[in-house]
Amino acid sequence: MNRRTFFVLLGVPGAGKGTQAKLLEERLGLPQVSTGDIFRYNLKNETALGILAKSYMDKGELVPDEVTIRMVEDRLTQSDVAKGAILDGFPRNLAQADAFDKIAAPYGGVSLVPLIHISDEEAMTRITGRRVCRSCGAVYHIDFNQPQRAGVCDLDGGELYQRDDDKPETVRNRLYVYYKQTSPLIGYYYAKGLLAELDGTRPIDQVQADLLDLLGAEEAVA
Ligand code: AP5
Ligand code: MG
Repeated sequence: MNRRTFFVLLGVPGAGKGTQAKLLEERLGLPQVSTGDIFRYNLKNETALGILAKSYMDKGELVPDEVTIRMVEDRLTQSDVAKGAILDGFPRNLAQADAFDKIAAPYGGVSLVPLIHISDEEAMTRITGRRVCRSCGAVYHIDFNQPQRAGVCDLDGGELYQRDDDKPETVRNRLYVYYKQTSPLIGYYYAKGLLAELDGTRPIDQVQADLLDLLGAEEAVA
């Protein structure tokens, strides 16, 4: 089977995974695969998957593994991922990481796992000020990454809204779930020699430059 490039972005909620993945899409020619965005798309279209996912997302809990893994498997059969993908928000616990290793194995496995570091305080400030485009999912911040016109997406003119799970009490539980279920992936990927850590507190364009340095080097050896 053809080799594919799979980058797995890790980091607390608000670390900038979605922001960076969207910028990388263009630079690397690989699509972003965000499980959170796929759940939100299904929610907007009131599918059975969206309604199921909402009951977990509203509490900041993980959607069950069997549902999430099957959804990613389906997504990876689409033609735009023929060269690989930038995974954003998946895998998110050890069971998902193990399943993804099996999915990716025929294509050469996971290529690199950039871990974007920010503090919990920074995460809270970022998430409570975040605004998202209802139609294309582009991410803004009321102070750090403002659209040209307040409330309107620069890319497609869509309406900007605040995610339902971005209330402070839900964010606190998402952080708790991250440390309990997702942070073990740091050791998991470190042991495989795939972890690459970077400072996520720098401005968006500088984090992007750091990421491109890391991923470019990886592409060159792939
Ligand atoms: P998901 O949508 O994945 O949310 P998350 O992991 O909590 O991460 P966020 O999207 O909040 O943060 P981000 O790192 O993408 O930051 P962003 O770029 O937006 O998941 C939501 C829910 O779906 C989960 O709780 C769960 O229920 C479910 N789910 C998803 N995947 C699942 C899975 N695999 N298994 C089970 N359930 C799953 O940036 C944040 C803000 O900061 C923005 O406003 C941005 O403009 C700003 N910003 C970004 N970078 C910078 C910077 N360098 N400086 C200043 N501001 C910045
Ligand atoms: Mg995101």
